[in-house]
Amino acid sequence: MCGIVGYIGKQNAFPILIKGLHRLEYRGYDSAGVALISPENQLNIYKAKGRVSKLENSCKSKDVSGHIGIAHTRWATHGEPNHSNAHPHYSQSENLALIHNGIIENYVVLKEKLIQKGYTFQSETDTEVLVQWIEYIKESNKTDTLAAVQLALKQVIGAYAIAVIDKQHPDHIIAARKSSPLVVGIGENEFFIASDASPIIEYTNKVIYVEDEEIVILSQSGQPKIISLSNVEKTPQITQLEMDLQKLEKGGYPHFMLKEIFEQPRTLRDCMRGRINVDCNNLALSGIFNHKEKFLKARRILILACGTSWHAGLIGEYILEEFCRIPVEVEYSSEFRYRNPVLYPDDVVIAISQSGETADTLAAIELAKKAGAFVYGICNVVGSSISRNTHSGSYTHVGPEIGVASTKAFTAQVLVLIMMALAIGKERNSISQKQYEQILSELDLIPEKIKSILKQNQAIEDLSKIFTYAHNFIYMGRGYSYPIAMEGALKLKEISYIHAEGYPAAEMKHGPIALIDNEMPVVVIATHDATYEKTISNMQEIKARNGRILAIVNKSDDNIKKIADYIIEIPQTEECLGPLLSIIPLQLLSYHIAVKKGRDVDMPRNLAKSVTVE
Ligand code: M6R
Repeated sequence: MCGIVGYIGKQNAFPILIKGLHRLEYRGYDSAGVALISPENQLNIYKAKGRVSKLENSCKSKDVSGHIGIAHTRWATHGEPNHSNAHPHYSQSENLALIHNGIIENYVVLKEKLIQKGYTFQSETDTEVLVQWIEYIKESNKTDTLAAVQLALKQVIGAYAIAVIDKQHPDHIIAARKSSPLVVGIGENEFFIASDASPIIEYTNKVIYVEDEEIVILSQSGQPKIISLSNVEKTPQITQLEMDLQKLEKGGYPHFMLKEIFEQPRTLRDCMRGRINVDCNNLALSGIFNHKEKFLKARRILILACGTSWHAGLIGEYILEEFCRIPVEVEYSSEFRYRNPVLYPDDVVIAISQSGETADTLAAIELAKKAGAFVYGICNVVGSSISRNTHSGSYTHVGPEIGVASTKAFTAQVLVLIMMALAIGKERNSISQKQYEQILSELDLIPEKIKSILKQNQAIEDLSKIFTYAHNFIYMGRGYSYPIAMEGALKLKEISYIHAEGYPAAEMKHGPIALIDNEMPVVVIATHDATYEKTISNMQEIKARNGRILAIVNKSDDNIKKIADYIIEIPQTEECLGPLLSIIPLQLLSYHIAVKKGRDVDMPRNLAKSVTVE
C-alpha cells in the first residue's frame, strides 16, 4: 500500500527522500508528499496529486533545504486521491508532521472528540486525525512528543507504520509500527526509515526490522533507540541485507514487468540452486527437513494466500495431493480469517506471499498459530513480516519484483510447491523413486524451455494487436491448467483493464458458454495432459458457437491447429510442471495487449504491489 521514507543525518534530505519515493512508488501512486525541517527551523510540507515525478517538479522553486525529513507515496484508503488528502499531514499548530501507511479504524470517534475541542481538519484522512490526536495528547498532558506518540498509539485501533517530525525538536524522527512494515537503515551518522529496504540499500546494508508496537527514535547524534508502547527499552537487532541495487532498475527493458517475465529462466534456476543436486536425483529443502515430523503427521494441509499467490496455491493443491496423498484445501486468507474455521494442531498451513506483508495473510497466519497449527511460509521478500512470523519456510529467491502484476514470483512459488511436494512425498513414501527423479530431471530443463518460449515474444506481440478490440476474454483449462486459466485472466484484467475470467473448461456448459459469440476471445490451455481429449471437445463446443480460440499447445499439435484460430506453441513437459511453461505466453500476451492499449503496465490504476491493509 503506501510507501513511507525518512532521513536524518548530514546530507540534504530532499534528494534522498525523492529517490526513496521513486523506489517505493510501486506500493501506491495516487499522490506523494514530503516534509522537511529547514536549517531555519521551518517545517515545510509539499504535496502533489499523482506520481512522485509531479511532486519532484512542483518542488523545483521551493525551499527544500534540511537534513531531516519524511516522505510518502499514497494508495488512498480514506478520501479521494487529491492534494489535501496527500501525506504528510500537519498538526493543528503546524509543529508536527506525520506520514502513515495503514488504517486507523477508530478515527471517526477520535475525530469527533477533537472537533469538540476545537480542532479543524484539512483532509478526509484517518492520518490527519492521528497527528492531531498526538498533538492534543501532547498539549493536554503537557508531555513531550515521544510520550504523546506512545499514549496516542495505545488508543488507536488499526494498522500503522508512521513517522513523525516535530519542528520544536528538529533533531529527531519518531517512527512506529503495528501490522504495517517498517525498516530502519543504519548508516555512518545517518539513519533512514522506509516501508521496505529498497530506498535504503544504496546507502547501507545494515537494517533493523521494527516489530509490532515498537517505537524507534532516530536522532542526529547517537544510535537508534527502540522502546515498546509500554515504555520498555529493547536492544535493536541489526541485520545485514544482501540486496543488489541493479535488480531495482529496469536494465534496458521498457517496463519492470517485461524485465521480470524475461528473468524467469534465471530466477527459477536461482530458486532451485542449492536445493536440487547436480545429478538431479536428490532435493533438499531445509525448511521441510528440519520439521519433517510435522509433514509426516499432517492430517491436512491448508494453503492460505491472496491473488496470484492464491493461484499458485491451487496448483500446490493438485501437486501435493498427487504426490503426498495428504488432503489439501486452498483458501483466500481474507475469507479464512473472518469465518470460524475448524483447525487442528496437526494441520500444516502453507502461507504464500510475494511481499510477505499482505495484511489478510498475516492475520490468517496468526489465527492458525493460535489454533496450534504449524505454519510454513513461501515468501519472496527476505525479512518480511510473514517470513518472520511463520515456524519455517522457503524463500523464492527471485529478487525484487517491482511490476504490480506478479510474474516471476508466481512461477517461483509454483516451483517451491513442486519441490515441497517432492520432498514431502519422498519422506512419506508416497512417490516412487523413478517418478521423483524423472520430475527432478525435467525441472532442470525448465529454464531452457522457458527461454524457447520467450523467443516467441515478437510473434506474441503481433498476435496481441488482434485482441486489443476485446472488452471481455475467457480463459479455460483443466487440471493443472485450470489455475493457469485464472492466473492468465487476472494478468490481463489488472494491467489492460479488459474484463477476463478463468474457468475450468468443463464448467463452460454450466453457464459461461452463454457468453460466447464471434467477438469473444477464448484462450484455451490445451497441452498434452490427462484431459487433452476432453479439452478438445470443450474447444469444439466453443467453435460451434463461433468463439475465437487462441490455444496454448505443445509443439506440432496438428489436431488443435485445425480447431483453433490462433496458436502459441510451448514445449512438452511433465504434466505437473506444465504451469511453469503455459503461464509464460499468457504473461506476454497480457503485457503486449496492455502496452497496445496505452496502459501504465507497471503501475496500473487502483492497484498497489503490497496490500498491507485488509
Ligand atoms: O504479496 P502477495 O503475494 O501476498 O500479494 C497477493 C496479491 O495481492 C497479489 O498476488 C496480486 O494479486 C498481484 N497484483 C497479482 O499480479
